[in-house]
Amino acid sequence: MMAIRRLAILGSTGSIGTATLDVVTAHPERLVVAALAAGRNRELFLNQCERFKPTCVSVTSPDDVPWLRSALSYAPEIHFGPAGLLACALHAEVNTVVAAVVGAAGLPSTEAALRAGRRVCVANKESLVVGGALMRAAVLAGGGELLPVDSEHAALHQLLDARDPMSIREVRITASGGPFREWPMARIQAATREEALNHPTWKMGPKITIDSATLMNKGLEVIEASVLFNLSVDQIAVTVHPQSQVHAMVGFQDGTYQLQVSANDMRLPIQYTLLYPDKRPSPVPPYDWTQARAWSFEEPDLERFPCLGLAYAALRTGGTAPALLNAANEVAVAAFLEGRIGFWDIQACNSEVLARIPAEPADNLEAVLAADRNARDNARSWIALK
Ligand SMILES: NC(=O)c1ccc[n+]([C@@H]2O[C@H](COP(=O)([O-])OP(=O)(O)OC[C@H]3O[C@@H](n4cnc5c(N)ncnc54)[C@H](OP(=O)(O)O)[C@@H]3O)[C@@H](O)[C@H]2O)c1
Repeated sequence: MMAIRRLAILGSTGSIGTATLDVVTAHPERLVVAALAAGRNRELFLNQCERFKPTCVSVTSPDDVPWLRSALSYAPEIHFGPAGLLACALHAEVNTVVAAVVGAAGLPSTEAALRAGRRVCVANKESLVVGGALMRAAVLAGGGELLPVDSEHAALHQLLDARDPMSIREVRITASGGPFREWPMARIQAATREEALNHPTWKMGPKITIDSATLMNKGLEVIEASVLFNLSVDQIAVTVHPQSQVHAMVGFQDGTYQLQVSANDMRLPIQYTLLYPDKRPSPVPPYDWTQARAWSFEEPDLERFPCLGLAYAALRTGGTAPALLNAANEVAVAAFLEGRIGFWDIQACNSEVLARIPAEPADNLEAVLAADRNARDNARSWIALK
């Protein structure tokens, strides 16, 4: 019998959250919404609750609770804040969690859901970057399932499924290269917010869009791949592929490669994780091979995109270094989006924080959260002096 997935969608009003609800609508016999959590987009959240009638809901601010209670036509459990994310993830009706909030704020609920034995479909890459060792320990302790929503990692999951690890030489994740792929250094350094938000191939939330322009997103994904697939840093490479149709490749010991190809639509990897191991028709039409098209592949340029090099350095250092880098980057990207620093300052801030704070072992949640706080404080003071 096919398993019914009763979902908690954390971050339901975002780009991944709304795409997830599209997939749910396409598979009513398999997917049911039991819990929804979101931030500040009141109107959309209210519409989603009325449409899917989850038993448990959560908003970020306590101020929104009375409003939501009076606006809803039915009476679900209503929670708020970080405890609300946990309440949704751990609700008794829920067997599958879609972790789609943005930033390290997603870490505690992802970890708790894995520890409670849930299937967790993780879009929130920051939680894996910050607490990779903790997530692996949570899977072992609770028997949960960790399935990656990121298109490159969902592609790798499909390519590596049931493969003998000894046969793998390397994996390659692709990067579109972002809006500045062909720009000279001086122009990148002076890039504006609007230019950085203009991603050529993917429509995403603002934080990940800026991370794609700096290639920090690809750096976070290199770290994410090492956590998910237990690969060494030297086994994970990045190939720039501007068309975003090949999402990942696996290179075998014999020198051959397998590639995963699909349209660049996040509903595909989302559906993959929700229905795994089943493949069913999706809301996205099958890949159209009758269209003439050209694909290209090139090496990333670490001079124009230093954030990618910083991520490799943090992964090599290990311990809390990825958490430090992620926290500095979250603060720097927020400051850039608010117009308080320039585009090139993002990499400078990240580099400075990594250099200032020594990495510690990252074997418990307190150590990781302390590193996260420390890096945020350092990044804020660096930005304040700009
Ligand atoms: N978008 C993509 O195509 C894509 C692809 C791969 C991976 N990812 C990853 O998926 C995650 C989500 O990305 P996104 O593009 O969907 O972001 P987004 O569009 O900005 O959406 C973020 C969602 O999280 C909610 N949220 C933010 N902070 C929260 C908090 N503290 N508590 C509760 N809810 C909170 C937001 O609520 P409100 O909007 O209501 O405030 C929104 O629903 C990120 O980690 C990103 O790196 C995204």
